[in-house]
Parts: sequence; structure tokens; C-alpha cells
Amino acid sequence: MKAIEIRNKYLDFFKRHGHAVIPSASLIPENDPSVLFTTAGMQPLVPYLLGEKHPEGTRLTDYQKCLRTNDIDEVGDNRHLTYFEMLGNWSLGDYFKEESIKMSFEFLTKELHIPVEKLSVTCFAGDDDCPRDDVSANVWKEVGILDGHIYFYGKDDNWWIAGEEGPCGPDTEMFYDTGKPACGPDCQPSCDCGKYVEIWNNVFMEYYKDKNGYSKLKQRNVDTGLGLERMTMLLQGKETPFDTELFSPVMEKIQALQKVDSIESRRIIAEHLRSSMMIIADGGRPSNIDRGYVLRRLIRRMIRHMNKLQIDLSELSTIIDINVDNLKEMYPELEQNRETIKNVINEEKDKFVKTLTHGEREFQKEMQKAKENGKSEIDAKVVFRLYDTYGFPPEVTKELADENDMTVDLKGFEELFKAHQEKSRMGSTQKFKGGLADQNEKTIAYHTATHLLHQALRTVLGDHVKQSGSNITEERLRFDFTHPQKMTKEEIQKVEDLVNEQIQRDLPVTCEEISYEDAKNSGAIGLFTDKYGDKVKVYTIGDFSKEICGGPHVTHTGDMGRFKIKKEESSSSGIRRIKAILIKE
Ligand code: SER
Repeated sequence: MKAIEIRNKYLDFFKRHGHAVIPSASLIPENDPSVLFTTAGMQPLVPYLLGEKHPEGTRLTDYQKCLRTNDIDEVGDNRHLTYFEMLGNWSLGDYFKEESIKMSFEFLTKELHIPVEKLSVTCFAGDDDCPRDDVSANVWKEVGILDGHIYFYGKDDNWWIAGEEGPCGPDTEMFYDTGKPACGPDCQPSCDCGKYVEIWNNVFMEYYKDKNGYSKLKQRNVDTGLGLERMTMLLQGKETPFDTELFSPVMEKIQALQKVDSIESRRIIAEHLRSSMMIIADGGRPSNIDRGYVLRRLIRRMIRHMNKLQIDLSELSTIIDINVDNLKEMYPELEQNRETIKNVINEEKDKFVKTLTHGEREFQKEMQKAKENGKSEIDAKVVFRLYDTYGFPPEVTKELADENDMTVDLKGFEELFKAHQEKSRMGSTQKFKGGLADQNEKTIAYHTATHLLHQALRTVLGDHVKQSGSNITEERLRFDFTHPQKMTKEEIQKVEDLVNEQIQRDLPVTCEEISYEDAKNSGAIGLFTDKYGDKVKVYTIGDFSKEICGGPHVTHTGDMGRFKIKKEESSSSGIRRIKAILIKE
């Protein structure tokens, strides 16, 4: 049975049992900054599990796009995935254990035709917070689960909660016996040997946990989750999800393109590509923080493994096309975003290629040095320098080290990283840089644009204009400056034109390190009253601007794009604020 048939059977089955079919929520949670991605079907339903009325009623079913990143480093083995689809059904204060278990059993045995001998189940063993779940065990017996196939475990195995706080409860889990030999006399579902695979989890959500402990919810809910990729693999008798139709077209293409063979790398490429595509289709974009960073990591790790297999990176678009064609029936959003997906991934690839070339060269040098000194570990300082100077991700340093039988002091790196963040938060250079911790082509261009804007404002409005704040993201610059009144339309236009003129002149940007006194005497704009060190960096943009600054900047203004002021407003008394963007044409 194909994955899409399993999905359709599931939704039809629960529809026949009175459930409303609701659409999958986005992978990127709406209005929930506490999590990066949707990680379970219940997540978008939390308000309803807590008692709010759902417009579609008290019985719901859906397929939910999910992404879990805690296992990202495990991808490449035979089972771990970051993106997966979870089929689920919910009772919001409607049916409870008996009906839920009966429906699950019927679906598994009648719809999916799984022989009962292959099924084992687990129930909650009970503790001070919640009694032993004999009710579930008895229903399992009644429907026909075989003697000796019902197990009881504690909270570690048979209790479900998302994170530390929230709706939760005992669960009953269903396991599929793959037919592999038992690993020993004690082999049972909780064991990790691969004989038993968990296929479905029904959570009886009647508690809420917070720091004070457990309390009863207003209503008794059921929350179930069935992993589609895993079920597909088992029903098809395949060893891994990568052998199912969900991945096989892309796996085959990668194999045809590779010049070096590695099954792990093929899996990583196929898996990370699918996850990246799903995130991009739901609006995610690579960046240096939070979910943007996860996406960046997925794309970059995929590229690394394409390099490892010596696959020409210009093949990326072909591989993406194959994947979109393969998955578009299940996820029409992939077809709708085909071009965006290609653009975003290819753009990120270009950036990463630059980073990699520099970083790998440096890594090789450092490794050589370490080896010559008889060390088998790469120093935290080195990892940090690679990251800080070349944007080389620490996880890539670790992978390279692994390949060379070396270890990496990642803990030391974390400490250096934190100390560095702290320092830049406190240091005045940070104010200059306006939040440029996140440095890439876009933010660097915005940084140079900020200098141009600053000088243009002084030229148009007068020398009373002084920077009082700056903030840069990949999308825009924000610049606060002293000026007593609202700028007129004409003034705004003049400033904009003046900046664009400098961009068109393709002025060189140069940097010199001189004493603060010399800098001041040279007419460089110094912004803050903070004490500078003996030497300062001065950035000069052609004959237009000279400013004390930590950098970095573009080397020439020509490629920055067209400068556009989007907003001029009051920031506080006597301070104006401009938001501006660079448009690449
Ligand atoms: N919330 C449970 C899980 O994620 C059941 O859907 O396993």
C-alpha cells in the first residue's frame, strides 16, 4: 500500500466514525514563538484540548506535517527522519479509552490488514500521579490482542507530554513485530533491537502538568498519532523509509549521479531535501537564528553530502524537480512553490559553497597543525575562529573531524560562543554594528547602506544629524538619528537619490586602522562618546563617507541593489527613524 493510500484510508475511516477532517496546520506554528516547528498533530489543537470549542466539533482527524530536529544528527541511519507526517484522530471531551482502542484495533486489522499476531500493545503501569491503566488493557484483551502481547510500563514509556508543561496523560502504544529474531529472552516492545516497531500512540489526555504538578483537565481527551512513513515502510515490508516510494525516485537519481558511494549520504541528501522543501513551501527561509538556522543547517548538510558523493551541485534543481513531482499529489504546496523552493535552495547553496571553500581549507591547515603537535582534538578556539571568520558551522567542523578520526571541543566552543555574544552585547562596537552578529551578504550590504544613508542625511539635512541607533536584519535597515522635525517628501527623495547615486558610482570601500585622534582629525564621523581603544578602524566609501566602524562592509558599492526608504517616523523626542530596503533587480 502506498503512503497516500494509507493516509486516505485513515481519514476516510475516521470520517465514517463521525470525525471532521481538518487540514494540516503549517509546519511553522502560527502565534506560537515557544516552538520552532510543529512537532505533533496535537500541537495546533492545544487550545481545544484545554476546553475551547472547536468549530468542527468534538471529533477531529487530520494528517499533520511535523518536523523534529532533536534527532537531526541521527539522520542517515535506517530510521531517523526530521520531517514526517503524523496521522491523528482526536476526541475533545467526546469518546475515551474504550472507543478509541476499538477504532484503532479495527483500523489496523480490518483496513490495513495487519495480522493480530503481529501486534503488541503497552499500557501505563501506574504511579502516585495516576493509577494503572487496567481499563485499556482490558479493552485490548476484549478486542483480541493475544495473551502475552500486553505490557505495562511507567512514565518513561507510557506517558505523553509535549515538553515540560501542558496537557498530558497515560498512553497506550501499539507495536508491530517485524519478524526479526528476538535479541534475547527479555526482548519486548520497550527494547531497541528493532524487532518491535512502535506504530501508533493513543494518549488519554486528562491531566495538565505545570510546575506545581498534575491537575485534572476540564475534559477527557484522546490524542493519537500514527507516523505515516514508518507505517508505509512496514506494510511494504521495506527495511527503511528510504526504500518506499516516498524517497525512492530521489534516492535513485542521487545514486545515478554519485561518483562515490555512501548510503548514509544518499539518505541524508534525500531526507534533508524533503524537509527543506516542506519548510520553504510553508514560508521558512534560511537565516542565522531559530527556525531559519535549522533550515540553513538542513540545506548545508545536504550540500556537504552532495560534495562527498561528488555530485555536481548544478544538479540540485533536477533533484528538486524529481522530488516535487513525486510528492506533489500529497503536498500540492510543493507544486505551487516549485520555483521558490529552487531559488531559495540554490541561493543558499551559492553562499555555502563560498563558505565551504574557505573554511575547509582552513580546517585542513588546523588539522595538520594539531596532528603535528600530537593532538587528536581540534581546539575550541579553532572551531570558533572557523565559525567567526569563515561562517563555517561547528557541526561541519565536527563532521570533518569525525571523518579524520579526530574529536572536537564543542563544549569549549559553546562557552566561547556565549562569552562572545555577551561581549558583543556589552561592547560599543556592537552598537556600531547595529546587531550585525548575523553577518552575511545581505546584512553586510545593509551595513554599508547605513553608512551611505548617514552621510546622505548629513549632506541633505545638515551636520546636526548624528546616529543614535541602528539595527539591521536580512530584510531591512533601521536607522535612528537626531533631527528636530519630520523630513519632507523632497528631503526623503533627495536622500534616497544621493544614496543611489553612490551605489551607481560603484565606489570602493576601504578600511584603515589608525589612532582615534587621527581618525577624528581626518573628519571621520565618530558616533559615540564611549572610549575607543588606541586604534580604530575607519571605513571610507570613495569620496563620500568616512566613518569609524568595526565593519564588515562590501568591497564596492555597485552590487548593493537599489536603495529605497520605506518609512520615516518619529522614534522619540528629537530622534527620527528611517526604515529602508535594498532591492536587487
Ligand atoms: N501526541 C502524541 C505523539 O506525538 C500522539 O499524537 O505521539
